[in-house]
Amino acid sequence: MNDISDVIREHYQAAIPPVKERRTRMTTTTQSSDPFSQFKAMQREVWADFALNEGFTTPPAADLVRFAGVAHGDAVLDVGCGSGVVAVTAACIGASVTGLDLTPALLERARQNASIARVEVAFTEGDAETLPYADGAFDVVLSQFGHIFAPRPDVALGEMLRVLKPGGRIAFSTWPPEHGTGQMFALLGKYMPQPPAGAATPVPPILWGDPNVVRTRLGDAVTDLRFGRGVMLSQALSPSHVLEFMETSFGPLKRLVAGLSSQPEKLTTLRGEIVRLIGQSFWDNAMHQEFLMTRATKKSS
Ligand SMILES: C[S@@+](CC[C@H](N)C(=O)[O-])C[C@H]1O[C@@H](n2cnc3c(N)ncnc32)[C@H](O)[C@@H]1O
Repeated sequence: MNDISDVIREHYQAAIPPVKERRTRMTTTTQSSDPFSQFKAMQREVWADFALNEGFTTPPAADLVRFAGVAHGDAVLDVGCGSGVVAVTAACIGASVTGLDLTPALLERARQNASIARVEVAFTEGDAETLPYADGAFDVVLSQFGHIFAPRPDVALGEMLRVLKPGGRIAFSTWPPEHGTGQMFALLGKYMPQPPAGAATPVPPILWGDPNVVRTRLGDAVTDLRFGRGVMLSQALSPSHVLEFMETSFGPLKRLVAGLSSQPEKLTTLRGEIVRLIGQSFWDNAMHQEFLMTRATKKSS
């Protein structure tokens, strides 16, 4: 298989249609100074159908909330909250929760989920790289498969640590490059068009799944760094059923398939490769997707 960094980079540099960005953030960063504003506009579209996956991401949300040690009364931020599975889980145990995401369609579903669960959560449209919160506003900052899609890990992580109280906990779930979902991103990247020359390059999200990379990125800003593992199950009758579902619910693949509509042979090859890859982690009528959990405490000074 090709080098994962290369193929993921290709994936994230795919041609992006310009979409006017909303000004909703309390930040001094202007849109024109953000080299990734078009990339983020594309991400808003790409993830719009992800709520269809919430049946799968709900059990890992409970794993992350438990791993982070969220307690009644904690002020919690969920970054890249999507349809709110982590945020609502934390609110259900009595935390005071805020959720932030780029994608308006998912925030709409997140508000419904909070309402159905009869909990209050403050959901806000925004960017992990420019969090609209004061320094030290939260006891716990969480992200489940969310902040990894911010194009600059140092910027997103810097923001997550800034809004965390000294002594507070940061915890997130990510996809290891050596397991199925990481390999899926690498496979999709192989089929993406070449980026325009000179385009700003997002850092591949799956690097967040490598404990050594995580340790380096957190550096001496934290103490008590711990890792855990979990498995997300995606139930289906066969690997082909998983593919069929992903083509409607998993934005990066949906976008790729649309882009290959004029190349049916390439599309058939891609689908075959995906089904083979899914088959490697498919048994007992479910795809088994192993994820990494990270937890650390922000240093007090
Ligand atoms: C794979 S989904 C995970 C959603 C949710 N946390 C879950 O576990 O179901 C990735 C999420 O990250 C969000 N996202 C991507 N880039 C982001 C950014 N720069 N800032 C905030 N959210 C972002 C997407 O809109 C999407 O909701």
